[in-house]
Amino acid sequence: MTATDLSTSTTSERTAAHIATTERYAAHNYHPLPVVLAEGHGAWVVDVDGKRYLDCLAGYSALNFGHSNERLVAVAREQLGRLTLTSRAFFNDKLSGFAEALARLTGKDMILPMNSGAEAVETAIKVSRKWGYEVKGVPAGQASIVTMEGNFHGRTTTIVSFSDDDVATSGYAPFTTGFRSAAYGDIDSIAAAIDETTVAVLFEPIQGEGGVVMPPEGFLRDLRALCTERNVLMVADEIQSGLARSGRTFACDHEDVVPDIYIMGKALGGGIYPVSAIAADREVMDVITPGSHGSTFGGNPLAAAIGTEVVAMLEEGTFQARSAEIGVQLEAGFGPLVGKGLTAVRVRGAWAGIDIDPTLMTGRQMSEALMARGILAKDTHGSTVRFAPPLVASDEDVAGLVEAVTEIITGA
Ligand SMILES: Cc1ncc(COP(=O)(O)O)c(C=O)c1O
Repeated sequence: MTATDLSTSTTSERTAAHIATTERYAAHNYHPLPVVLAEGHGAWVVDVDGKRYLDCLAGYSALNFGHSNERLVAVAREQLGRLTLTSRAFFNDKLSGFAEALARLTGKDMILPMNSGAEAVETAIKVSRKWGYEVKGVPAGQASIVTMEGNFHGRTTTIVSFSDDDVATSGYAPFTTGFRSAAYGDIDSIAAAIDETTVAVLFEPIQGEGGVVMPPEGFLRDLRALCTERNVLMVADEIQSGLARSGRTFACDHEDVVPDIYIMGKALGGGIYPVSAIAADREVMDVITPGSHGSTFGGNPLAAAIGTEVVAMLEEGTFQARSAEIGVQLEAGFGPLVGKGLTAVRVRGAWAGIDIDPTLMTGRQMSEALMARGILAKDTHGSTVRFAPPLVASDEDVAGLVEAVTEIITGA
């Protein structure tokens, strides 16, 4: 038996063969929709049978700039022919420019480059703990970090240690200690969890995997004030919410808040290559010394070349503006469906979470119905589906998404 149910769609032999081989040889750690993609350009992808789909997942926001973005592909191609990996045992001529550009974009003194998002989160945890011991003066071995209910920060053993998702944690004990959970968006709950051992509050400015969940207005500002007052690092995981997805460069920008540590990933690699990083000021980042942390691939010249171009594109501001425009269209399209098949709609930039009336259908059923109409999206929990089209999606593309969801909901 395979993890992917093929009975819900008409599946060609070619598609079925790819799925069967993947399910036979690759672990079943995902439950993909039964579509096998072969090409992607802009906001659209094409499957092995030549069928086109609007990509409304965009690699969980790793593809903010669209598939095969010309500028990014050109930079990657150029760099592929010159130098791809040096390790940090040596300097390379691309990391300098990338570090400078990303520090400028974040307004921070320094960056620490890694590869996957989870590695960047791990990096922020290590830097926060070390800062706690060496700068704040927390007694050895006692550092605590406050995390949020409903969080998603990745899949390492330490990161799932503070997840409240049973599927993500079951069977993986024992877990890393030193984390305390507080209610997301509830400043009193966070204040109560902080004590003299607390080194950081780790949070997503918008909880993406949670279903595009936004904290109440003013929460980010209150959290900034609380962290400053209690001498605790404010650590914003902007891996999914950042880099133009929410209509601003960072989701924290919506409240003009600057965290002590930014965690970035996904779109930093332009959908081409895994590139992640944290950014912080010198008094925080200086706790990192040679040998105390590292990664063979972190800061490699290919990653740095792509990341530099990503930053240049973000500095122009057009992707943020387009994201905000898409958000207006999504809000106008989905908002009126509340009470008519949807129980809630949350939109921030080109990022929407819709909660479907569970008596109508599950999120998975919605995703399958959309796929049949040439739109790819992914359910998150239960009856919630999140939409995050590439920021190059046209008005017609977004209108097509709204129309399809409306038809499915009203016809259900
Ligand atoms: C907010 C957030 N943090 C961390 C991660 C982990 O990133 P990666 O899958 O690249 O390890 C994700 C991935 O979805 C995420 O959304």
